[in-house]
Amino acid sequence: MKAHIVVLPGDGIGPEVASSGVAVLRQVAQRFGHAFAFDEHAIGGDAIDRFGDPLPPATREALLACDAVLLGAVGGPKWSDPSASVRPEQGLLAMRKLLGVFANVRPLKLHPRTAALSPLKPERTKDVDLVFVRELTGGIYFGAKTRDADGATDECRYSVAEVERVVRHAFDLARSRKRKLTSVDKANVLETSRLWRSVATRVAADYPDVELEHQLVDSMAMHLLTRPADYDVIVTENMFGDILTDEASVLAGSLGLSPSASVGGPGAGIYEPIHGSAPDIAGQSLANPLGTILSVAMLLRHSLGLQAEAEAVEAAVGQVLTHGNLTRDLGGTATTHAVTRAVIDALQTET
Ligand code: NAI
Ligand code: MG
Repeated sequence: MKAHIVVLPGDGIGPEVASSGVAVLRQVAQRFGHAFAFDEHAIGGDAIDRFGDPLPPATREALLACDAVLLGAVGGPKWSDPSASVRPEQGLLAMRKLLGVFANVRPLKLHPRTAALSPLKPERTKDVDLVFVRELTGGIYFGAKTRDADGATDECRYSVAEVERVVRHAFDLARSRKRKLTSVDKANVLETSRLWRSVATRVAADYPDVELEHQLVDSMAMHLLTRPADYDVIVTENMFGDILTDEASVLAGSLGLSPSASVGGPGAGIYEPIHGSAPDIAGQSLANPLGTILSVAMLLRHSLGLQAEAEAVEAAVGQVLTHGNLTRDLGGTATTHAVTRAVIDALQTET
């Protein structure tokens, strides 16, 4: 097949891991006979430096005309002055809105070799295999904000349609897995959460084969640490999801390992590792590329419908995790480039 992929390297280690992702996609194209075209554009701090705009018009245009987006990371100390009028993160929010990607999907699965790096005991994490679906374009982050001399407000609003589409996305995903969905809210206190819960309960009638449970966000935060293996698909609103997914990400042992997909819009999905631009290790080939490479597998599966290709990439990463020299964050001594090469070699030799 032919596919047109926009690559947004961004800042810090973003360009290093994005180029690993592209190298793996090139290998997939060669092995499976596809034609992938790559189109690199500016976002974040890099785009502010070059164009004075964290999401310049040329990037916007390319985003609207492609099949999928591969993103590195954005931000860094150079652009974090709170008094600055433009910030790198504005590029991310603007891109999510532009593409209408309302569902942020983050799988979390522990590999035996890295489970030892998790802050939790191995017997608690060994069977962890869950996926978060976080609502990404609504709620308090996008609500009206006010500020006066006495205080400030942030409005949290959800429409029925906004809740329903992301909950349906999660039910569909649950149906393809263990048929178990946990919906997280704060329905004992918040009106938006009572709406969330009633919509989830109504939609559940269309998925009689999926078991739905409701969980309050504060107890969910505890259960993630005490019994993470009991969960399969977890769906929640924007801010709760932001916090819970960061909590969950440390269970894997390294931020460098986890992929994400932002999907659901009419156009391209956005695929990126969950980590940031890691300015402390940028430019030294110390970045772990596996989170980005696993994001490439999600891109192949979800945006291009290439299931066998996605599985081949995941199997290659599994081989490197089991047998390979890993990057420093995982206790190894390999460079970003060497780990990428190892994944490509594994892809070549896999049968
Ligand atoms: P970070 O994820 O960039 O780094 C946290 C720690 O994890 C650092 O010690 C870093 O070296 C390490 N780390 C992260 N990714 C790694 C990888 N692939 N391999 C090895 N080690 C890795 O988070 P931090 O330091 O809070 O933020 C740095 C910048 O990134 C900030 O400007 C922040 O706003 C931005 N950021 C951007 C995100 C995005 O583009 N989606 C997400 C999170 C943060
Ligand atoms: Mg966050």
